[in-house]
Amino acid sequence: MRIDDSKVVAALSELDVELRRSSSLAELTSLAIGGTTDLLRIKKHESIPGLLSLLDSHGVSHRFLGGGSNLLVGDSELPWVVLQLASPDPDVVVEGNFAQVDAAADLGRTVTYCAKHDLGGMEGLIGVPGTVGGALRMNAGAYGMQIGSYVREVKLYRAATRQIEILRGEQISFEYRHTSFAPDDMMLAVKLELPSKAYREILQGIRICNEKRRSSQPLGQKSAGCIFKNPPGASAGRMIDELGLKGLSVGDARVSDRHANFFVNAGKASAKDMLALIADVRERVRSAFSVELEHEVVIWNG
Ligand code: EPU
Repeated sequence: MRIDDSKVVAALSELDVELRRSSSLAELTSLAIGGTTDLLRIKKHESIPGLLSLLDSHGVSHRFLGGGSNLLVGDSELPWVVLQLASPDPDVVVEGNFAQVDAAADLGRTVTYCAKHDLGGMEGLIGVPGTVGGALRMNAGAYGMQIGSYVREVKLYRAATRQIEILRGEQISFEYRHTSFAPDDMMLAVKLELPSKAYREILQGIRICNEKRRSSQPLGQKSAGCIFKNPPGASAGRMIDELGLKGLSVGDARVSDRHANFFVNAGKASAKDMLALIADVRERVRSAFSVELEHEVVIWNG
């Protein structure tokens, strides 16, 4: 979608929002799939309510992009503009056992920054790509931990009130890859309370998680992490593997040979290819195991 109205363009610059014309979502997502649209980079949280009223009043639909690491975006010209937070400097501030982190901060960098301040707990998240905001929205987790356990406060733009608000941790429910945030809420910052731990000990944990991840996941390839959620008490990856589907492909979209719940873009896969592969695998799992796999990856298709 292209913002053509010159009044809107002028208002964006007054709000200190940068307009990047015809941005390729393939360049902004780890799957390297996705069409083009205008990208709006937000430099100040405070401009968000004004920005959203502006877009709504001019009928410009929008989506919020985090780090693009858990996202499959449709092909060609996209029917909405994309909003993304620019990361402030510094994006993490540590005080005692609390870390105040901007939603645009890189998750891995945040884990190591906190580790250097002798704050642990998030070792499992090392190697999970994306931003802290994205991790928060979907309660990212790995190796027995999830980020939600450490959340004390969240600053967000709430679609329901059209205002920036602060929620306390206990007002939010964090479940397996799911939170009580509304789809249109925009994560802005989070206050984490982390256990004290010696840097060397945290580093040890980080090394172990890194090693496990390297040996079981296709890290160097273009992917969006796990495509499906694990059904209760089962593993989507194991089920897909048991059906012998590693290597199954549609165009350049391919079930990873290393981990069957990772689907990789092995070249120039389109969203159409990837969606067809997802539908095919889902159908095969349904008929073999009578299990309906749910997407873990977020799909923006039209
Ligand atoms: N397995 C296979 N074949 C495969 C993949 C896995 O047999 O191709 C087996 C493994 O041997 C193991 C079991 O399935 O016995 C579980 O596999 P794994 O330990 O790799 O964990 P997972 O359940 O597949 C989950 C998360 C990952 C997270 C890892 C590590 C989901 C959907 N996936 O994977 O998160 O990194 O645990 O904690 O919850 C993600 O969210 O994108 C993601 C990759």
